[in-house]
Amino acid sequence: MRLYFLRHGIAEDLASSDFDRELTKRGRARLANAAKVIKRLGARPSLIYTSPRLRSLQTAKIIAEELDIGLTVSEAVNFGFSLSDVQRLTRDMTYDDEVMFVGHNPDMSELVNELTGCDVAMKKGGLARVDVYDDEAARGELVWLIAPKVFDALRQQGAKSARGGAAASAALPDKPAVTHSPLHALIKRRWSPVSFDPTRPIEKSRLFSILEAARWAASSYNSQPWRFIVAPRDNEQEFGKVFSVLREGNQSWAQHAGVLMIAVSQTHRDTGEANSHAIHDLGLAIGQMVLQALDYDIYAHQMGGFYPEKARELYRIPANYEPKTAIAFGYRAGDLSRLSDAHRDRDAAQRQRHPLAEMVFNGAWAQPASFLD
Ligand SMILES: Cc1cc2nc3c(=O)[nH]c(=O)nc-3n(C[C@H](O)[C@H](O)[C@H](O)COP(=O)(O)O)c2cc1C
Repeated sequence: MRLYFLRHGIAEDLASSDFDRELTKRGRARLANAAKVIKRLGARPSLIYTSPRLRSLQTAKIIAEELDIGLTVSEAVNFGFSLSDVQRLTRDMTYDDEVMFVGHNPDMSELVNELTGCDVAMKKGGLARVDVYDDEAARGELVWLIAPKVFDALRQQGAKSARGGAAASAALPDKPAVTHSPLHALIKRRWSPVSFDPTRPIEKSRLFSILEAARWAASSYNSQPWRFIVAPRDNEQEFGKVFSVLREGNQSWAQHAGVLMIAVSQTHRDTGEANSHAIHDLGLAIGQMVLQALDYDIYAHQMGGFYPEKARELYRIPANYEPKTAIAFGYRAGDLSRLSDAHRDRDAAQRQRHPLAEMVFNGAWAQPASFLD
């Protein structure tokens, strides 16, 4: 579950009561900027809980209007907002949900610190994103903390790129796995985008590392039953050759990749004996490649949608080898204007996974493992 903690914006010092203190003009302007950046960052809380104090309520309204989401005024988020309040308000949420709280210091800073073990001090108009993994929402990871000055700078940057004619100035979707348990940062970040930057080639040294990562995978009897046909974009002829074996639906986005690859498994040893683990081992090698690539911010998108027999013919692949998948590697495009609406929606779509209970058993087949309770 993603929790966003937003401290209200700059408010007037004096009013008839503390409850009625309003945002200043500057406070409102800064929040309007922040709201636009929050939207660009892809934050999609389904609900905002706000303290009833006027400065908080006004802050929450500015964000809610920009994100077009609902607002709930809650006394719980008023002074003294505590972890038990967070837990109560999020009790019925699932780990895919996102929710924002708008309130006051010291509560906002203390909550972020209590959840994450960090020691942060939130500025007025500052926002923290904390991802929690446990059902009790008792422990989380500070994913980012944005100070108002940083919002200002990000907003200016966004405005500049919009003026520069970038048709799609929307932020690159960021789709980390939402999990109950902490994950290695690379595994959490990995996903399969369709937006690649055709103007940014993959450096040769990095390509070597990506291939080494595959080379060092485990395999049954160390048979290493993987082969890769590799076509960097700057080798037009080779790139075109691999491109020509992709199915048309994949060609539409894979044309922008930095490297195209065909992954081949050695299904039968040279003696003719079948290697029943060959596909397993190829997948393992690709898994390592994909993560090594991501360490350089190079994303991979694997494809079953290609014509293996065409690849076999073009490259004269022997009968004991099988082309299994094609893979597009590339840096992600900062400008999404090359994408069709459908592709842009696809990159922005939420990622889904089956729950562990549907895949982790013990006792009997399909019986969720007892330790999952
Ligand atoms: C073996 C394999 C074949 C795939 N084939 C295609 C494909 O032909 N076209 C495509 O757009 N995505 C393809 N994908 C990507 C999957 O759709 C994607 O991995 C899956 O939806 C999970 O999303 P994620 O990788 O973003 O977590 C393939 C992935 C794998 C591992």
